[in-house]
Amino acid sequence: MNGEKRVLLSGMQPTGTGALHLGNYMGALRKWVQLQHEYEMFCFVADWHSLTTRFQETEKIAEAGRQVAADFIASGLDPSQCAIFLQSHVPEHAELHLLLSMITPIGWVERVPTFKEKRDLLSERGEGDESVSYGLLGYPVLQTADILVYRANSVPVGRDQAAHLEISRELARRFNRLYGNVFPEPQALIGEDSGSVMGLDGRKMSKSYGNAIYLSDTPEMISDKVRNAFTTPAKMRKTDPGVPEQCAVCQLRRLADPHGYMVSWEEDRAGERGCMQNKKELTEMLVEWLRPIRERRTALLENTGELDEVLRQGAEKARIRAAETMKLVRNAMHF
Ligand code: AMP
Ligand code: TRP
Repeated sequence: MNGEKRVLLSGMQPTGTGALHLGNYMGALRKWVQLQHEYEMFCFVADWHSLTTRFQETEKIAEAGRQVAADFIASGLDPSQCAIFLQSHVPEHAELHLLLSMITPIGWVERVPTFKEKRDLLSERGEGDESVSYGLLGYPVLQTADILVYRANSVPVGRDQAAHLEISRELARRFNRLYGNVFPEPQALIGEDSGSVMGLDGRKMSKSYGNAIYLSDTPEMISDKVRNAFTTPAKMRKTDPGVPEQCAVCQLRRLADPHGYMVSWEEDRAGERGCMQNKKELTEMLVEWLRPIRERRTALLENTGELDEVLRQGAEKARIRAAETMKLVRNAMHF
């Protein structure tokens, strides 16, 4: 590639209030932060994607989008290394989405498991058939436009996104076959260590389970959450042996203290350490670890001028690359 850096793109869809949790941080953001020096990197907030299930709540989506962007920056994505922007600020995503939608066989998108899951979820919520939109069916096509509009080579995502990336690769191939070679086939970068972060109740950490520690949590919130967290059920007293692999407090400690946690696990197993001590130490570690992130995100959300400026510059940088791609696309399609 003539010494040109490879292009890496990733995005996150704002859900709920937007604040990201430790699972998002460990499973995605942390990796992006490491990769930003090796690649030409684009990181965006997929705010239009939130319309696929929440089209009645546009003010909430806008606010949630800003929270996600603040968490990106507070977690260490550096605007001078990586374009950070909102999808809705780069209209080229929409133009490419329209063109790709014309060459997407309906069968491809109807088969995607996330479509079926979201359709079932909406019907369980009693929202009726009219909440299942044409846009929801097209979710992976919009996601493909997000990726191809930067002619991205690699896309770091969680395992749950593998089916979407498969559509992206097939659409890139189909476009290239129909109109000429414009797009590289984007590779999913699914990390080896993509084990999921355990939530406070022992299930996977997730916004929808209410078991998450957020990057926005104050020391008091962290302390309350950890106090009520799930530990080894059979461990009633300090001297009972614990099973750290199944204990949410031990698992979170491993994240907070990746080099030193082993000693505490051995003590837990041997009945030499009680859950109270474990929880107290975990709280202190989480508070210290998350403090700089929380302070930075709060500052960004209070002084909105700085955040607006980062997002404006990010979109400007993104649009340069996206406009180049759209020129190639229009040429290839004779428009
Ligand atoms: P979501 O909030 O589920 O849309 O996820 C956004 C990103 O965070 C994806 O890349 C997920 O793979 C990652 N992620 C979410 N929850 C967890 C978790 N509990 N452990 C590890 N990664 C997670
Ligand atoms: N669907 C992704 C998620 O839920 C978010 C997303 C939208 C995305 N467009 C993308 C991820 C493009 C990577 C590349 O996490």
